[in-house]
Amino acid sequence: MEATKSPYFDTVAYDAIIDACNDSPGRLLTVLEEAQKITPHQYLPEPVLRHIAKRLDVPLSRIYSIVTFYSFFNLKPQGDHTITVCRGTACHTRGSKMLLDDVLLRLGIKPKEGETGSFTSEDMRFTVKTVACFGQCALAPVIAIDEVIYSNVTSEKLETLLKKLASRKVKS
Ligand code: FES
Repeated sequence: MEATKSPYFDTVAYDAIIDACNDSPGRLLTVLEEAQKITPHQYLPEPVLRHIAKRLDVPLSRIYSIVTFYSFFNLKPQGDHTITVCRGTACHTRGSKMLLDDVLLRLGIKPKEGETGSFTSEDMRFTVKTVACFGQCALAPVIAIDEVIYSNVTSEKLETLLKKLASRKVKS
């Protein structure tokens, strides 16, 4: 298929993903996942979602219901590193709210009015997110830095982890 011209983004790479996926039932999920991976700052901008909807002949509303259901899809640009703080009951009772506040403070992120669940630093280096449960409640409180999970996190341990993270350039 001939590439569509968009005033917002180059559709060629997204068309290649769509063309490479076969007609399996999981096609839409795979396309969305791959599209997010190739988008700078790992998210799904609206023009990309519209393009996918048009190419796959799927209602945009269905695409939105999918990307808002699965927490690994992002609708906002993400930082180079992601810190995920568990806010489930077990982690909450063992101090995860304090850890969340601590992470935001240490990374200099001030949540904007009405912003919940995902916060990104102005320099786009860090995104701090919350999750409902990592499934490791016995080891609460639990956080993840990029893809690595840390358990029994204390304020001291957090400080050490964030110092190490700050010394890294980009996600490895
Ligand atoms: S509540 Fe945090 S891991 Fe389950």
